[in-house]
Amino acid sequence: MSGRFVRGPDGLVVAVDAVALGQGGTANVFPGRVIDPGALQLPDNVAVKVLQPGLRRKAAWASQFVESGRRASMISHPNLVRLFCACDPVAEGLSKHEQGEIDAPWILMEHLSPVSLDRMRPQLQQQFGNSWLRGACTIVGGVLRGLEAVHAGGLVHRDVKPGNVLFSDRQEPKLSDFTSARLSKPGVVTNMHGTPAFMAPEQRLRPRAVDHRADLYGVGTTLTWLVRAVDPFYLFHDEHRRAVLTGVHSAVAAVIDRACQFDPARRFASAAEMLEALNEAARSLGEQAPEPGSAAPSLQEPSTWTSLTEG
Ligand SMILES: Nc1ncnc2c1ncn2[C@@H]1O[C@H](COP(=O)(O)OP(=O)(O)OP(=O)(O)O)[C@@H](O)[C@H]1O
Ligand SMILES: [Mg+2]
Repeated sequence: MSGRFVRGPDGLVVAVDAVALGQGGTANVFPGRVIDPGALQLPDNVAVKVLQPGLRRKAAWASQFVESGRRASMISHPNLVRLFCACDPVAEGLSKHEQGEIDAPWILMEHLSPVSLDRMRPQLQQQFGNSWLRGACTIVGGVLRGLEAVHAGGLVHRDVKPGNVLFSDRQEPKLSDFTSARLSKPGVVTNMHGTPAFMAPEQRLRPRAVDHRADLYGVGTTLTWLVRAVDPFYLFHDEHRRAVLTGVHSAVAAVIDRACQFDPARRFASAAEMLEALNEAARSLGEQAPEPGSAAPSLQEPSTWTSLTEG
């Protein structure tokens, strides 16, 4: 067999394209074609996330990468990127070191458009027109629904940000990139994970104490980035947060204000609670006439978005 491929337990074989769909700080993501699904039920086309070679040699990274992938593959929700399986071929003694075989840890996922929310914003903003604030609430509401499932599955995502939100072909937001996810058991020994502008202060200051409320902070910074177009550094600082939120509709600003408190105990208690507050805030925005040519999305029916195309 020529080309590059990954090999998994039970005879799984996937051919991996040479051209990446995307590249992040920890991994490269490639299109993959399933040659033999082994014992799994898989679509013909998948995305293969491969840990970068530099991190491959760090055992803690390799095991975090595979463990987080395995745990996330047990959680399925329309607002989460579906993960099928994760494997460290060397640790499992699977690598035969054949020519072209990828022996770095990898994760198989559903294959989506690689254009993440950070790159989609100009297009979305144009599409929603005058309703952009409602649109931003709708997108973030989808992320919160996905997070409810993540938290119910006992995980904290730890890297909620626009660059980690992809879209289904029906334009439903899907939270992706579970590389930083870990069990939400208190006291689990952990290093700092996250993205500085978007992460909760305790992720840097007290990484062992991080729980699901850090993800709600990430949703708050993501929403701020959507409506304010600034890197949301230091939103936990009360005065700075108020300055950044000046001019944002008070109902939405109040949701961000609560989500981005320094003290997790002062934030929303759960993703469900934040979603309820966000929906209420979005309802209070009232109906605004959308700009010509833009779809007016319904909060209840995000799948009705139309004509969003790759940028
Ligand atoms: N399932 C997928 N389908 C299509 N493209 C994807 C998929 N997952 C990731 N990508 C693309 O690959 C890029 C990097 O993926 P991802 O965010 O998971 O990597 P990472 O190295 O963990 O990133 P980070 O820089 O946040 O640590 C994404 O921005 C996206 O463009
Ligand atoms: Mg990422």
